[in-house]
Amino acid sequence: MPDTFEIRPARESDRMPLALLFAGVAEELDWIATEPPVDVGRRAAAWTIEAIVVAVADEEIAGFLHLERSRHGYGEVALAVAPEYRGYGIGTALLEVAIDTARAEGLHKLSLSVFAHNEGAIGLYRKLGFVEEGRRVKHYRRADGGLWDSVDMGLLL
Ligand SMILES: CC(C)(COP(=O)(O)OP(=O)(O)OC[C@H]1O[C@@H](n2cnc3c(N)ncnc32)[C@H](O)[C@@H]1OP(=O)(O)O)[C@@H](O)C(=O)NCCC(=O)NCCS
Repeated sequence: MPDTFEIRPARESDRMPLALLFAGVAEELDWIATEPPVDVGRRAAAWTIEAIVVAVADEEIAGFLHLERSRHGYGEVALAVAPEYRGYGIGTALLEVAIDTARAEGLHKLSLSVFAHNEGAIGLYRKLGFVEEGRRVKHYRRADGGLWDSVDMGLLL
């Protein structure tokens, strides 16, 4: 359990730790659309660093949130916390920062998409006021042939 954690904007030096965290979550197979293998070098180079906030615990990147500002007034959110740091409030803290930032920047809405079986993430989003707006049925074809539903959720700011 981390004694404490800090939320801060991502830096250039976070690129590779972020890519490794992302690749690890992809290897869990259950939570994010990307499946292994992740090309971590390419992933590290591809991040839009200005769009990311990170959670740092024990001097390592424990989680991150990506907030993509659209041209249409809403922001798209994606986040992940490393398995060993889940359940300690990091996801909540990342999302609260994103909500505050989005409000301060004048966005009118945050939206996201989540696999329908991801009860933990959906519980977190509901706790912070997101509501379900629709379900995409058998939307994602997985490497094992499975066809997974996703749920779109939104928070009006
Ligand atoms: C979803 C995720 C980001 C949450 O991060 P976290 O740091 O573990 O979350 P927190 O500890 O802040 O909060 C957990 C909250 O989620 C909810 N939650 C967790 N497990 C739950 C469950 N089984 N059922 C319902 N709600 C649940 C609760 O609201 C809980 O808040 P509470 O402790 O105040 O009751 C993290 O589990 C994760 O990275 N999962 C893998 C990647 C992923 O699913 N990303 C999102 C893709 S859309």
